[in-house]
Amino acid sequence: MTNPIPGSVGRVSPCRLVDLPEHSDPRGRLTVVQPGTGIDFEIHRAYYIHHIPDGAERGAHGHRRLRQIIIAVHGSFDVVVDDGFAQDKFTLDNPSRGLYVGPMVWRDMINFSPGTVGLWLVSEPYDETEYYRDYETFLRDAKALS
Ligand code: TYD
Repeated sequence: MTNPIPGSVGRVSPCRLVDLPEHSDPRGRLTVVQPGTGIDFEIHRAYYIHHIPDGAERGAHGHRRLRQIIIAVHGSFDVVVDDGFAQDKFTLDNPSRGLYVGPMVWRDMINFSPGTVGLWLVSEPYDETEYYRDYETFLRDAKALS
């Protein structure tokens, strides 16, 4: 789905799936998220989404500074990332694989399976002024930064 066009500033290509260390034994599996093991920022906040109704879509925003790892702890969903020039789509369906998303990337979360629980580990405390909620404003700033 990647569709780079000339002038792309390349904020989609750093978005990547990160394999998280998993400890498996007869009792089950334990997954660790820790800076240095594929995570290159300090985690200052965590939140999770759950009880998502059929057909619901989330996201529809970008961040000025925030970096994050997104994990489908249970179930699956797709994350569409867009830097104003290029788009990509990642399917999250493995609790030991996270998606890194950096600053100035618009994201939409779609196609949630029933019962999904999604976990976000992020680099900043919550600050609504740090969000882009309007796509046209995001596009204007993304292009100005390119
Ligand atoms: P929202 O950004 O719309 O969620 P999503 O990215 O999943 O679409 O957030 C939903 C509500 O929760 C909104 O009123 C803001 C609030 N919120 C907090 O108060 N603290 C937080 O850390 C987050 C992520 C959201």
